[in-house]
Amino acid sequence: MKGIILAGGSGTRLYPLTKSVSKQILPIYDKPMIYYPLSVLMLANIKEVLIISTPRDIKIFKELLGDGKQIGMSFSYAIQANPNGLAEAFIIGKDFIGDESVALILGDNIFYGSNFGNRLKQISNNNHPATIFGCYVKDPRAYGVVEVDEMNNAISIEEKPDNPKSSYAVPGLYFFNNSVVNIAKKVKPSVRGEKEITSIIEYYLKRNQLKVELTGRGLAWLDTGTHESLLEASNFVEAIQKRQGLYIACIEEIAFRKGYINRDQLIKLAAPLIKTAYGQYLIEVGNSIK
Ligand code: DAU
Repeated sequence: MKGIILAGGSGTRLYPLTKSVSKQILPIYDKPMIYYPLSVLMLANIKEVLIISTPRDIKIFKELLGDGKQIGMSFSYAIQANPNGLAEAFIIGKDFIGDESVALILGDNIFYGSNFGNRLKQISNNNHPATIFGCYVKDPRAYGVVEVDEMNNAISIEEKPDNPKSSYAVPGLYFFNNSVVNIAKKVKPSVRGEKEITSIIEYYLKRNQLKVELTGRGLAWLDTGTHESLLEASNFVEAIQKRQGLYIACIEEIAFRKGYINRDQLIKLAAPLIKTAYGQYLIEVGNSIK
C-alpha cells in the first residue's frame, strides 16, 4: 500500500501565520505539523509516501524530509497547482500509486490514541475496497459527516451539512483500493468548486464497499483549523509527552521500533538535535532497547 500526504491549500483561515509559509510546516508543540500525519502512515506500515503541496511550499517539505532514506522510508514529491479539492490527490498521484492500494491523509490532521497503530495495521492489511473513520464530535457541521445504521454500516455521507444526520465526522484519513484513481477522474467539482473526497466515498458507499471504523473516547482527533485549535493541539501534545515521557509522532522513534533503522543510525539522527529534549529523547529510545 502507498501513502499520500496532502499538504497544500491556501491556509487563509490561519492568516497572517500562513501568509508566507505552509500551514502544515507550522509547529505543533515541538515538531512540524506534517510529522503527525506522516507518523500515522508509518504506523500503518506504509513505507512509500508521496507528499503533495503547493508550488511555493513543496521545497520546504523536501528540505525537511528529504528522500526519506535516513529513516528507512521513501518520499516523493508532487505539486498541486491550485487547491482544487482533496480528490485531486489521486489524479496527481496516479503514477506514484501505480497498481497498488493507497491511504490518503491530510497534512493537518492529528490523531492520538491507544492501540491506534494496531488498528491502522489491520486496516492496511485487510484489503477492503474503502475504509474511512467516523469520529464522534460535538458539532460535525464543518466536516464530512457519515450516517451509520445499528450494524455500523454506512447509510449516507455528506460534506459540511447544515443539518447533520449523525455526530460522526469523517477525519482526513482514507484507505482505498486502486479503483480510486479512476473514480477520482470522474469526480465533478462541487458548488464550492472543489473535487470533494465525499464524492469518492459516496461512490464506494453506493456499491456497498465502504467500511466505517467508528472511534470512541479512546482516540483523539485534533483540529488545527483555527488559531485557537492550533494552540490547543500544541498544549495537548505537551501535556501527554510530559506526563508519559513518550513522544507523539516521533518519526525517528517509529522507524527505529519498526526496524527500519538501527541504533547507530538513530543516534546519528539525534546528534544535530542534541540541544533539544527531542534529540535527548531519541538517545533515550536508542538506549532503552538492547
Ligand atoms: O479534516 C477533515 C475534513 O477535511 C473532512 O471531514 C472533510 O470531509 C474534507 O472535505 C476536509 O474538509 P476541510 O474543510 O477541512 O478541508 P480543507 O479545504 O480545509 O482542506 C483540508 C486540508 O487539505 C488543508 O490542510 C488544506 C489541504 N488541501 C485542501 C484542498 C481543498 C490541499 O492540500 N489541497 C486542496 O485542494
